[in-house]
Amino acid sequence: MHNNGPVLITGAAGFIGSFLVKKFLRSGYQVIGIDNINSYYDRNLKLKRLKNIKEYSIKNNYSWLFYKNNIEDKNNMRQIFLKTRPEIVVNLAAQAGVRYSIVNPSSYVKSNLLGFSNILELCQTHDVKHLVYASSSSVYGASKEFPFSEEHKVNSPLSFYAATKISNEMMANAYSNIYKLPITGLRFFTAYGPWGRPDMAPMIFADKILKKKPITVFNHGRMSRDFTFISDIIEGTYLCCLRVPTPNDDYEFGNPSILHRILNIGNGNPVNLLYFVELLEESLSIKATKVFEKMQPGDVESTYASTQNLEDWISYRPLVPIKEGVNKFVNWYLDYYQ
Ligand SMILES: NC(=O)c1ccc[n+]([C@@H]2O[C@H](COP(=O)([O-])OP(=O)(O)OC[C@H]3O[C@@H](n4cnc5c(N)ncnc54)[C@H](O)[C@@H]3O)[C@@H](O)[C@H]2O)c1
Repeated sequence: MHNNGPVLITGAAGFIGSFLVKKFLRSGYQVIGIDNINSYYDRNLKLKRLKNIKEYSIKNNYSWLFYKNNIEDKNNMRQIFLKTRPEIVVNLAAQAGVRYSIVNPSSYVKSNLLGFSNILELCQTHDVKHLVYASSSSVYGASKEFPFSEEHKVNSPLSFYAATKISNEMMANAYSNIYKLPITGLRFFTAYGPWGRPDMAPMIFADKILKKKPITVFNHGRMSRDFTFISDIIEGTYLCCLRVPTPNDDYEFGNPSILHRILNIGNGNPVNLLYFVELLEESLSIKATKVFEKMQPGDVESTYASTQNLEDWISYRPLVPIKEGVNKFVNWYLDYYQ
């Protein structure tokens, strides 16, 4: 069955990575996963995601290889590239989170800048056919030009996290220009769903509501996010991996000689944070106690993706409605944690 590939996915023990690994496995690819399984959040959750993948691939006779490794470690990474010869590389490994970048900026420099530059160099020197990497909706900063479109200027990051993601886009652009390496950058908009991240609002809120503890709602609730369900993030990412930018593409933006395409992957349907809490309350059948606070430094008030370019590129746009997504998330959460 596994004739396609190999595909190398970094951040494979992460939220998005673990789902993407499974998507490629069941589509018949050999998959190589890399993750340093760091302790930014509960390592057990990462280990359980990996255990799931292992069981899934044994059961279905899929070709899955995992290396516990840090993408900053170029020598080890080079050995892995030499041994596995990936055709597609998806770089999801990064120090994520806006708030943590206020207290620990150096971990962002290491994973997101040094680590990413290693990935670029290794892809270029090992004949990789397509590099796909995670950028973020946070690159749009405090822009009020809704919906956020890839043609907008992104030169005013509000957090160091966002600054590293804009840097990734610049680094990728230069690599693609100089070495003619086809690269696709994906600006993910607030992914949520089963197996999600414990440092993000859906999980923090669900946990507190169930424990009857008050939840903190920042900016007095005047916040909205373009929540995007994990299955939509995965389908969009997978289809983008298969569509390699070529010089013949009709680029609506950017320089056609640079094989670097940047795309939003968002729902195109922003949801007010208080409505999101309401949906959680409904699904959990518990009322939340809310504490309203001012805006956190580095945070943005609203995100809202234009999905037009994505749809034109891969004929797909995210489609899971928020109510359905929250229900699926809550069902998983109750099953997993209780
Ligand atoms: N989840 C979202 O809503 C969202 C939104 C925008 C962008 N992103 C980006 O998408 C990517 C995946 O996000 P996620 O939500 O799955 O995050 P995640 O934290 O669950 O996954 C990232 C994984 O990378 C690993 N990792 C971190 N630094 C590493 C390093 N130096 N070497 C090897 N492994 C390392 C971590 O252990 C983790 O398992 C990240 O680049 C993130 O910045 C995510």
